[in-house]
Amino acid sequence: MQDIRDYIESQRNAFEDDLCHLLAIPSVSADSKHRSDVRRAAEWVATRFRELGLQSEIVNTSGQPLVLAESPDVPGAPTVLVYGHYDVQPPDPLSEWITPPFEPTRRDGNIYARGSTDDKGQFLTHVFSTQAWLATRRSLPLKLKFLIEGEEEVGSQGVNEFLEDPASRRRLACDVAVISDTCQFAAGQPAITYGLRGIAYFELRLSGPRQDLHSGTFGGGVTNPANALCKMLSSLIDGQGRIQVPGFYDNVLALSDRERQQFAALPFDERDFMGQIGVEGLSGEASYSTLERRWARPTFDINGIWSGYQGEGAKTVLPARATAKFSFRLVPNQDPHKVAASLATHLRSVCPPGIQMELIDMHGATGVVVPLDSPYMAAASRAIESGFGKAPVYIREGGSIPIVTRFKTSLGVDTLLLGWGLNDDNAHSPNEKFCLADFHRGIQASARLWAELAECKV
Ligand code: BES
Ligand code: MN
Ligand code: MN
Repeated sequence: MQDIRDYIESQRNAFEDDLCHLLAIPSVSADSKHRSDVRRAAEWVATRFRELGLQSEIVNTSGQPLVLAESPDVPGAPTVLVYGHYDVQPPDPLSEWITPPFEPTRRDGNIYARGSTDDKGQFLTHVFSTQAWLATRRSLPLKLKFLIEGEEEVGSQGVNEFLEDPASRRRLACDVAVISDTCQFAAGQPAITYGLRGIAYFELRLSGPRQDLHSGTFGGGVTNPANALCKMLSSLIDGQGRIQVPGFYDNVLALSDRERQQFAALPFDERDFMGQIGVEGLSGEASYSTLERRWARPTFDINGIWSGYQGEGAKTVLPARATAKFSFRLVPNQDPHKVAASLATHLRSVCPPGIQMELIDMHGATGVVVPLDSPYMAAASRAIESGFGKAPVYIREGGSIPIVTRFKTSLGVDTLLLGWGLNDDNAHSPNEKFCLADFHRGIQASARLWAELAECKV
């Protein structure tokens, strides 16, 4: 494959420039002000596929558009579905960015921009590896289908609706799926991720008196919605880090002893980890290690919370309303719908008099583990070793990619989670970056992946 390797090497600058064009489009799916930018990103991706000579189409959904593309059939070789997302998280807080989020900037071997690692820089590695095959060999050794969506960061509703239709499922029929939207274990240590957590995301709105009150005149005699919110939220988890929603742990897939040993054998340094995020201590569910807590145990996090006076100085007010957004990360076999139902009953039972509550179920997804013993996994491992110069380790991760379960239930296929990111890439946070060397290694690994997967029997 030296011809393909050389081609990729020769296109370094062109690939980086192209990545910058996509990164400059502020395709923030959560923010309706960016609707037309999201659309523009979809068009950019579809145009890119057409320039490669692939058939490509933009499919409109109730939300953001999907970009589909496919290469010609290759009889006898497997069909691989590549998924990615061109939408990005909001860039806030803007003032903490060293260079603006949508002005991609190269600095110390990284490219800084919102979406650089999550997921534009990662999914483009598969587009560019495809370009490398087509430019040097005129055809691919297997059939590729691409599905690049624009709502991954907000729950993937459009793509879920699309997959309800049997005609769409036939269109995406494949033997295996590939997603690069996860991380390596550490810099210099690539990984294949075999498990992801699910999620159940909620907003809880409490309202009390008709309007804000004087906290001296009324305090103590009227239920304070902010106090109530704190109490209700703290009832969700105990001091041992155990979630208190009835039935929550019923179906939790337990960690096997073997898996715990494998996690413990990974070179993970708690001190380095604390240093990386700037904390001096850690906490979590009792009797589990940090990697176990992050990768394979269900958790509860408040994602946003607000009520009352937030301005300068002190204001003695009893707020009329209080709101929180919070989510549970789930592990395989937990059902987000069951969690939602049990949570609603529990919260109603602890909601104090004088408070009206509204619980909004925002989105949910199940966790997954994928089999490690498939020929596709072995092919992916060889491809990564060739692109990164080191064999991957097998890890789980704590984030969620809802489509992975969907691919299993709707298309009957497993997904290879081949992530080129790093845990300190600042995904979802200020100064998101992607290591450019990993970007190029990812393109090489992907180009090799098509050759390795083509050898798998179908
Ligand atoms: N790329 C992430 C998922 C991810 C993060 C995988 C970290 C592995 C490690 C993805 O874009 C993401 O952020 N997903 C959301 C899903 C949610 C909106 C349903 C997440 O995990 O919060
Ligand atoms: Mn992502
Ligand atoms: Mn994300």
